[in-house]
Amino acid sequence: MLVDTKAMFKKAYEGNYAIGAFNVNNMELIQGIVAGAAEKRAPLILQISKGAREYASPIYLKKLIEAVVEDNPEIPIVMHLDHGADVEICKACVDGGFTSVMIDASHDDFEENIRKTKEVVDYAHAHGVVVEAELGKLVGVQFDEGDEGGGKSGGAYTDPDQAVEFVERTGVNSLAIAIGTSHGAYKFKGEPRLDFERLEVITKKLAGFPLVLHGASTVIQEYVRLCNEFGGNLPGAKGVPEEMITRASRLGVCKVNIDTDLRLAMTGSVRKALAEHPDDFDPRKYLGPAREMVKQLVMHKLDILGCVNII
Ligand code: G3H
Ligand code: 13P
Ligand code: ZN
Repeated sequence: MLVDTKAMFKKAYEGNYAIGAFNVNNMELIQGIVAGAAEKRAPLILQISKGAREYASPIYLKKLIEAVVEDNPEIPIVMHLDHGADVEICKACVDGGFTSVMIDASHDDFEENIRKTKEVVDYAHAHGVVVEAELGKLVGVQFDEGDEGGGKSGGAYTDPDQAVEFVERTGVNSLAIAIGTSHGAYKFKGEPRLDFERLEVITKKLAGFPLVLHGASTVIQEYVRLCNEFGGNLPGAKGVPEEMITRASRLGVCKVNIDTDLRLAMTGSVRKALAEHPDDFDPRKYLGPAREMVKQLVMHKLDILGCVNII
């Protein structure tokens, strides 16, 4: 069943677990993710980025998600826009049947972020669609210890008081926060470190309000090894340790975004299948195992998030 995030987040918040939000671009990814959720009896957020829309074209992704919803009526599924770059794309997705959109104006200043978010909230809420926004800037591998205030890395952790003001003034339904995570397969130079003290303050000040963790892949080393063993070149890839994800999911984080781990699992599996069977040229022979690996990955993720036996 296609749903929005309201009831899902309320239950997750109260149950101290988080919903997995998985990025999708193609049929095998979507099928693998949903098969994993069905096995674990978990609700799902399937999210579509601007890049995914450009790659697959919006209508194909929409129809694939409709197919999956029809095929799995027992699973609550959210169709979510990931990192909506401007008000227009958010409105287009609201009009196009998404049940949740993200407006990412985190690179604008505070007032402009509020203005854009409020405009999306007004439009989306009038159409029964929920909105996620982002406050603070995610940093990448360039992050330096002590640089969270917006130094040379350009990153800036979320200010707890600003978060309260932002939520009050925009009426947004959930908020992505910056506490040290970043997108991609290279998240930390040295030891992984997230600012849990800051997260706890935000959670206290915004009691009951759902938070979102972007850049939350754990960069599973088994998949990195698989990629590297079969011709890949990903030396030193490093993600957020699993125990940190579990800890965050008990501190008001209701949505955990995962893309990189899906990419690694799929790529590792395809590389292996092609290397081991050089005579095969049937895409089903390498995409089928990749889909199965995505299913196994999602089942593992849902365990880490505590999101099992919910439906
Ligand atoms: O946050 C970014 C997601 O991993 C989506 O990536 O823009 O390459 O589709 P993408
Ligand atoms: P990862 O790159 O850690 O998978 O993060 C994905 C994400 O935040 C999508 O919005
Ligand atoms: Zn993200």
